[in-house]
Amino acid sequence: MVGADRNSRRGRARPAKAPRAPEQPPAPFVLRELAISPQAFHSRFGHTPILARKNGGMTLLGLDADQLLSTTRAVRKRLDLERPVPDELIRECVAMALQAPSGSNVVTMRFVVVRDEAKRQAVGQVYREVYAGYKASPYYPGRSTGDADRDRVQGRVASSADFLGDHMGDAPVLVLGCTAGPDRASAEAGLGNILPGMWSFMLAARARGLGTAWTSMHRARERDVAEILGIPYETVAQAVLTPLAYTKGTTFHPAERPDPNSVIHWDSW
Ligand SMILES: Cc1cc2nc3c(=O)[nH]c(=O)nc-3n(C[C@H](O)[C@H](O)[C@H](O)COP(=O)(O)O)c2cc1C
Repeated sequence: MVGADRNSRRGRARPAKAPRAPEQPPAPFVLRELAISPQAFHSRFGHTPILARKNGGMTLLGLDADQLLSTTRAVRKRLDLERPVPDELIRECVAMALQAPSGSNVVTMRFVVVRDEAKRQAVGQVYREVYAGYKASPYYPGRSTGDADRDRVQGRVASSADFLGDHMGDAPVLVLGCTAGPDRASAEAGLGNILPGMWSFMLAARARGLGTAWTSMHRARERDVAEILGIPYETVAQAVLTPLAYTKGTTFHPAERPDPNSVIHWDSW
């Protein structure tokens, strides 16, 4: 029976109560949303989260999981191109991205964070040129489908995408989600590792009042972008390019999407 009653206090003398410490002032910040103290965050991620800063820090928007998932839009015209984005906020988004799954638990995701104006403009120019080709293609959403409702929605998407086509390089930060491997074939095979990480990055950004827009068409000129940014093309595959900026306003709405029943196949196709 040893141990069966291990936690019982019966028969044991209560330890004398320590005198009550004087009331402490409330902590200046609580990372409730992350369920982690600033100290624990620091020891785990190597820096104190900016959200925890008493002065000058920002707060999480306080969106619940479903709100975050349903209002993380591709932000283009509402990117604040003038306001700088602190590095530490970007590091937090990457910390959240790293919580995404990785095949064999080997982290191959990489993030190239471009703040340098000349490099942003150079990448932006590549994007502009690729975008011009897309605009002339049958895939451009601004083309009429004959369905007035659909055309209205797609017209808005096209106008928004056109804006990004012109202004990608003007965002205060560009983030390029990549995946690394021992050779080009392995790097490309690891794309599944960066995609969930990149979406987590975008969700984390939205939770912090930042906007992103998933793009991948620059990959038609991946070597050019690799050269601009010094990315080793043979071992690093680029997957997603996004602008990163504070959003103008923080209210975004769920988009119109198909009925779930139209995309679910229960038990068999
Ligand atoms: C694989 C993929 C590629 C995309 N490529 C581009 C792109 O090159 N340029 C762009 O402006 N948006 C791009 N988007 C964003 C979509 O246009 C956007 O998600 C879609 O219009 C729906 O808008 P929402 O995300 O705000 O609901 C891409 C999204 C995905 C998932």
